[in-house]
Amino acid sequence: MSTVNDLIDVRVDDATNEVRDLISGLSGAPRLIPTVYGYDERGSELYAQICDMKTYYPYHAEWDLLTRNVNSICDLANVSEIIELGCGTATKSELLLNRMSAESRASLKYVPIDVSEEMLRKTSARLADSIDGLEIDPIAGDYHSGLSVVEQRPKASRLFLFMGSSLGNMSEEKRHELLKNIRAAGRRGDLMLVGVDFDKPRPVLETAYNDPPGYDLWHHFLTNRLACLNSMFHGDFDPSAFDSRLTYNTDAFRMEAQIWPRSSDIEFHLADLNLRGVIKAGERVTVDTSHKFKPDELNELLDSTGMRIMEAYEESAVKYSLLLLEMT
Ligand SMILES: C[S@@+](CC[C@H](N)C(=O)[O-])C[C@H]1O[C@@H](n2cnc3c(N)ncnc32)[C@H](O)[C@@H]1O
Repeated sequence: MSTVNDLIDVRVDDATNEVRDLISGLSGAPRLIPTVYGYDERGSELYAQICDMKTYYPYHAEWDLLTRNVNSICDLANVSEIIELGCGTATKSELLLNRMSAESRASLKYVPIDVSEEMLRKTSARLADSIDGLEIDPIAGDYHSGLSVVEQRPKASRLFLFMGSSLGNMSEEKRHELLKNIRAAGRRGDLMLVGVDFDKPRPVLETAYNDPPGYDLWHHFLTNRLACLNSMFHGDFDPSAFDSRLTYNTDAFRMEAQIWPRSSDIEFHLADLNLRGVIKAGERVTVDTSHKFKPDELNELLDSTGMRIMEAYEESAVKYSLLLLEMT
């Protein structure tokens, strides 16, 4: 049995920036809804179901890499705190937590950070039941606010987990900023385990990131962002009036998730934000992106943020890696 501390909620601190990004995204051309609105309770459940589909290789590649290399990772990561950014259901992290808590002589602290409070509570309760000897210390909030809580605490030997290829879900500038903030929350010699997806042929990516025949999980995952906006800001979007598709932009090395009104213009009103607009029939609204890295680009990013690759675990068939990084 493990213990769960009271949840720390820092989402109030995030609200201003998030709302500013949403208003400028929905009013801009092309329009954009930030990724963070994809993960209310329903969005998180849909993502977990997508991970169960055989076609979604990032999840399965990470699972296989962790299963095969859990001993090596645990041997290299002799830490007292594990901080996970965007823990979700933490099904993969559980493999590590189980092994590390069994081997740890002192108590091991696990700090899951996620914007989805419901998911965070469920994940913390489940891990507390299934693993012995963990102190679970959940933080509800954006990656940056969560990290600033960690940064202000006394230093400890830390392993940061950032899986699910989430590093690719942000712009180049935001990736850089996030790694800098992670580096600031650690000290020299601390570690980070990050899942990285590399550029590959377009058909492979588009098969993995779209529904196979007979499924509509990706479609609901993408259009659910409108339902999430409705409930957060008293909006009037009709998600069922939208189509969706993920395509690979081969110039930008990025999967782009887009939704659009299927047959006629859609007027919308988000009452709490005093925001109105019209989305034309067929007009693409980007609701998520997933960057696929080139090795040189990744090395430059790590160099410039004070990280170096200590060990690379690679699933070469799908060009996906779990990298154990050391802070320099
Ligand atoms: C792609 S899922 C990955 C989940 C899990 N790490 C995995 O590997 O299966 C992204 C997770 O990060 C959370 N998330 C997304 N954006 C976030 C943000 N800006 N700050 C904190 N959590 C975020 C979501 O709620 C979701 O649980």
